[in-house]
Amino acid sequence: MPRITVNVDGIAYEEEVEPRLLLVHLLRDRLGRTGTPIGCDTGNCGACTVMLDGRSAKSCSVLAVQADGSDVVTIEGLAQGGEWHPMQRAFHEEHALQCGYCTPGMIMAAIDLLRDDPDPSEEAVREGLEGNLCRCTGYCNIVRAVRRGAAEMSRRSASESSAQEVPAP
Ligand code: FES
Ligand code: FES
Repeated sequence: MPRITVNVDGIAYEEEVEPRLLLVHLLRDRLGRTGTPIGCDTGNCGACTVMLDGRSAKSCSVLAVQADGSDVVTIEGLAQGGEWHPMQRAFHEEHALQCGYCTPGMIMAAIDLLRDDPDPSEEAVREGLEGNLCRCTGYCNIVRAVRRGAAEMSRRSASESSAQEVPAP
C-alpha cells in the first residue's frame, strides 16, 4: 500500500493508505477529524470542505494519495491559542447555523472566498458559496456571517500591519 505523509492541523502524519481511500475518510476514520462531515459523498454538498495547501477542497473528491506532501487544515485546526477564528466567531454571532451539518464546510469555503475578495458583496458571497449547500436553508444568516467575518479579518490585518510599521525616528 502507498505510504503518504500529510500535515493536518499542524501535525505531521505518515500513513499507509489504500489507493482508493478518500481524503475525507483518512481525516475522519484514521486521524480523528470528525468535525469534517460527509454529506453527499459525491462532491455536491460541500459539507466535507477543508483547506488543502491553502485553498478549499471537497475532501470527498480527493484521494488520500493525492494529498501526499500537502498541508490540510480542518475545522478543528482553525482556532488558534484557544481563540476562535474570526469566521467561526462570526457564524456564532450571526446565528448562522441550525443543525450545523454544513457549517464546517461553509466556514472553510468562506475563508477561501476572502482570499480572492476580502470585502465581498452579498451577491459575491452567495455566488462564492454556491458549491456549499445548507439543508436547513439558513442562507441569509450565513451570508451576513461571512460579511461580518470578512470585516473582522480586514480589521485585524489592518491593525497588524500598522503595528508592524516602524515608527519614524
Ligand atoms: S460530502 Fe463532499 S461534497 Fe458532499
Ligand atoms: S445548518 Fe443545517 S445544513 Fe446548514
